[in-house]
Amino acid sequence: MKTLIYSAKDFETPFLEEANKDVHSFKYSSDRLTTKTAMMALGFEAISIFSADDASGIVLEKLKDFGVKYITLRSAGHDNINLKIAKRLNFKVANSPDYSPYAVAEHAITLLLALNRKVTLARKQTQNYNFTLDKLIGFDLHNKTVGVIGTGKIGSIIAQILNGFGCCIMAVDPFEKEDLKTRFQVSYTHLDNLCKECSVIILSIPLTSDTHHLIDKSKLDLMHKETLLVNVARGAVVHTKDVLAYVEKKRIGGYATDVYDKESGVFFYDRSQNKPHDTDLEKMLTHDHILLTPHQAFATKEALANIAQTTVDNLSSWQEGSNPKNSLIPLDEKES
Ligand code: NAI
Repeated sequence: MKTLIYSAKDFETPFLEEANKDVHSFKYSSDRLTTKTAMMALGFEAISIFSADDASGIVLEKLKDFGVKYITLRSAGHDNINLKIAKRLNFKVANSPDYSPYAVAEHAITLLLALNRKVTLARKQTQNYNFTLDKLIGFDLHNKTVGVIGTGKIGSIIAQILNGFGCCIMAVDPFEKEDLKTRFQVSYTHLDNLCKECSVIILSIPLTSDTHHLIDKSKLDLMHKETLLVNVARGAVVHTKDVLAYVEKKRIGGYATDVYDKESGVFFYDRSQNKPHDTDLEKMLTHDHILLTPHQAFATKEALANIAQTTVDNLSSWQEGSNPKNSLIPLDEKES
């Protein structure tokens, strides 16, 4: 199937080539899908997009006019595509939901440990031959209560790892998992209680209208002075300005995040010669109690190989007239 791969990055194309084995005809573009770049899809039956691509209603209308029928996402999250409109326009859409929850969960723990033990500050200090410890005091995770918001594929692995550290785990999720309760003594609670009780709070939920700005001033007010907040979900599940203000005022202990609500067009690019004018981003890059990574939680070899394979499998299923198992708009609902 003739497929345009938007937002293609050099580090992922070898994995896509390896998985494809020339079955489908791939064209790679480093451009993001936007209203301006939608016309590049003219003549392609399928496109593949990533998390920073814009598949909003207006873009989908254009893609439809240009003859695109299939959209495969190289991501688990699908907040960047308007599925309602995609369905109305008879697009077939599938994502890559299971590529490696371990990659993302392990990165969440990396962020937590680095923030708590002030690893980036230690590096900054030691690079200046300052070997003092005054600013490097963290806390034991053992016996601390850690909150996991969203115990799906990623949150479940986070709970498993935290159990290994000897943490008490609280969670919020409308779908409680019995095995997490029995294997890791996870206790489900409501969000306000989790915010009040936990020394660490980790976000692993999808971005939806319900979770947009889930963590704002009202929730930050409930947290302890030392609470560390970790976000591997999507930037907009927190109200960034509120979180930054609470860290600056020392009303919470710190924020470590892999995602940022204004990351589109910035993350995944070398902007060192063309820095964005963004004071929030600047704060996140310079504050000692804030740690930002550039949406890299998924970036392991295993995850990239799985994303590539799922992308090829989704396209092959459509080519054969069947429904990919990761379909977000099942074929049989297409005509309804
Ligand atoms: P999943 O669908 O397996 O789990 C999400 C869980 O969140 C579900 O159990 C769901 O019931 C729960 N949930 C939904 N709304 C909630 C709410 N209001 N409060 C509490 N829980 C709620 O998804 P998975 O694979 O665990 O991924 C979660 C999210 O992580 C993705 O949607 C994506 O946005 C993000 N992600 C980030 C990556 C990164 O590189 N930083 C990579 C992959 C995913």
